[in-house]
Amino acid sequence: MSEATTMTVNTFDEAKEIYRQKGLRQALYDAGEIVMSGVLVNLHGDEHRARRRLENRLFRRETLVSYERDFFPSIIDATLKPYVAQGSAELVHMSHQLMMNLAAHNAGVDRPTGTPEETDRLYNYMMKFIEGATLAHTTRDPEVVKGEITESMSLFDAEFIAPSVQRRQALIAEVAAGNAPESTLPLDILTVLLRNEDSLHIEHHTLVREIAFFLLAGAHTSATAFVRTLDNLFSWLEKHPEDSELVHTNREFVQHAVYETIRLNPSSPIAMRRALEDVTLRSGLVIKEGSTVVIDLMAVNRDVAMYGADAAEFNPHRQPADSTVSRWGLSFGSGMHACIGQELAAGLNERSQETSDYEYGLSTVAVQSMFDRGVRPDPAHPPQMDTATSRPYWGSYSVLLG
Ligand code: HEM
Repeated sequence: MSEATTMTVNTFDEAKEIYRQKGLRQALYDAGEIVMSGVLVNLHGDEHRARRRLENRLFRRETLVSYERDFFPSIIDATLKPYVAQGSAELVHMSHQLMMNLAAHNAGVDRPTGTPEETDRLYNYMMKFIEGATLAHTTRDPEVVKGEITESMSLFDAEFIAPSVQRRQALIAEVAAGNAPESTLPLDILTVLLRNEDSLHIEHHTLVREIAFFLLAGAHTSATAFVRTLDNLFSWLEKHPEDSELVHTNREFVQHAVYETIRLNPSSPIAMRRALEDVTLRSGLVIKEGSTVVIDLMAVNRDVAMYGADAAEFNPHRQPADSTVSRWGLSFGSGMHACIGQELAAGLNERSQETSDYEYGLSTVAVQSMFDRGVRPDPAHPPQMDTATSRPYWGSYSVLLG
């Protein structure tokens, strides 16, 4: 029998090598299995490839451009309007609301009544799923959290997934019968999965989890990046007032601030893989079957050889050492599980000529919309950390608007 150990990787090249190995499978979400079992990021090999190939269709360039052009401005306006009217906002709640509105559209979660109460319930389910996915870091009793998640999952299914499935199945049947054109089908994950149910062999409870995962992965990561970017820019602009106009006039500057924030604070500080067999790295190091490999993203992303002597500082003007080094480090992963939503969240690093106005990503557009509405910290209510998790999340962040 092989000896199971844990090793940590903290260099860029070795981390990329780990991400590419077929003999290493996802291990980060073992504790969060209650939400994450059977979802894309937890699949391996052929099963992962088959589902990823289908879901990739939702993240084609033209779909992303149409989201950013036709959809982001109205979602941002509608979500921010009441906060602008009251002249203030609490960013943690507001950003999850905003990003959830987009993630629900992309995942395929309908809100049949469209009432604020219905949106509040969806929000509460999503926040519970976020707690489930990060269960390993909870400071609460994990068994109590698990009970709450199981209950939320079944209520979420009954209220949101069941009617969303029903509406799509009716549309799919109409298209199959030749009574309606292909274009009547919604462009979302749920529709893709329902149309390919036979080849993917997905059971209903897995379908519910996959949609819950897209909702939380889409919303939570972008929401935290949004709040942290605003926080970083507030501090930066205090020290560099000469950049104050750039947040309004230069979307690329704001996008670089988002990338820099994501580099310094990846959505998870580590990635983790488990060896399905003995794996030999280029260095000759053998990872024994059953062993765990941890990629220390905080260290990899702050490598001074790649990002300079001030690698641990926030600097939106930073130029990485060369073009092979990404501005976001390895915060979107790499290899087979590389983030499917990277362009949606943070746009493209290099834009194509035809679509150059629209490839900055939702986090960038949302951050800039806040500056355009006069966002500034609220001196009467300093930001507080979230004490329910050991991860460094803001629990509340009050700002003034207008
Ligand atoms: C700032 C924003 C985001 C960050 C930092 C982020 C980060 C990541 C990382 C690090 C992974 C790889 C996990 C691993 O290899 O263990 C990942 C995978 C994934 N992300 Fe994101 N993500 C972001 C936004 C999004 C959005 C907007 C969506 C959905 C619309 C999304 C959906 C996913 C999915 C489905 C996977 C799994 C891909 C697979 O296993 O094939 N992410 N993300």
